[in-house]
Amino acid sequence: MWIPIYRAKAYRHFGSFFSKVDGKSIPGGVFNYRGIVSCTLTMSESSSSPGKEKIVVMKDGPYVVSGSVPLVKENIISEGGISTGWEKGGRYPDRKAYTLCRCGRTSTPPYCDNTHTSIGFDGTEKADRAPLSERCAVLEGPTLTLYDRKDLCARAGHCQQLTGAWTLVKHSDEEEKRIAAIGVVNECPAGRLVLRNKKNDEIIEIPAEKEIAVVQHPHKGVSGPLWVRGGIPIVAADSETYEVRNRVTLCRCGASERKPFCDGSHISINYNDGDPSLKR
Ligand code: FES
Repeated sequence: MWIPIYRAKAYRHFGSFFSKVDGKSIPGGVFNYRGIVSCTLTMSESSSSPGKEKIVVMKDGPYVVSGSVPLVKENIISEGGISTGWEKGGRYPDRKAYTLCRCGRTSTPPYCDNTHTSIGFDGTEKADRAPLSERCAVLEGPTLTLYDRKDLCARAGHCQQLTGAWTLVKHSDEEEKRIAAIGVVNECPAGRLVLRNKKNDEIIEIPAEKEIAVVQHPHKGVSGPLWVRGGIPIVAADSETYEVRNRVTLCRCGASERKPFCDGSHISINYNDGDPSLKR
């Protein structure tokens, strides 16, 4: 089943997914990120309470996941070449701990098989560690503020629906476009785009369980990143913890220039882990 988070005509089919913003139904729910001052974003809070779940980036090696984090598959679905939603593709066996490939060369995707050692993988982490609030561009619409952190883009493409997230925000005084903007932005797996409700100053975010999704991008014919949801702490090889976010994408193709995060390079290198969804 695919989950059309945005698609206006399908909203009524996903009533349980909805929350209210200003008394209006929107897809997903609303998180109240406390400690927000003016346009400063505090994104260290997430939908789930702090727990034992953790992802550790190993120097020139894999991701070590602990805390019984569920591992699932998510495929991007599309219409006319535009990404329009997500399709659940199954669930991997539950494990308390596991290692996920970061070099892109494993023979047992998405798990690590130690190939990184034989190929001399350079997994140097070059991501900007500044919080979202310190680097984002800000677009003020009539009822919504859009925060845009371009360097986190995973090129999933959902933001291009309709007239695009940016134009929708500019016209967010029109109810239909405001609702569409909220849905489109929350489909972004990488957390590049974040919305604030100008009326009550709350960040608008769809709640997510702590989970990792292995992404496939069938209409591009490529495998995608690891979509980390629900605020799982990600610890760098030097033991510093990255800003905890509700949505981020980790590179698993080995080619990102902003490791550990995905920068969309998996499309440029035609990364294909052999998943059956890419053979349709
Ligand atoms: S998976 Fe996206 S850049 Fe590697």
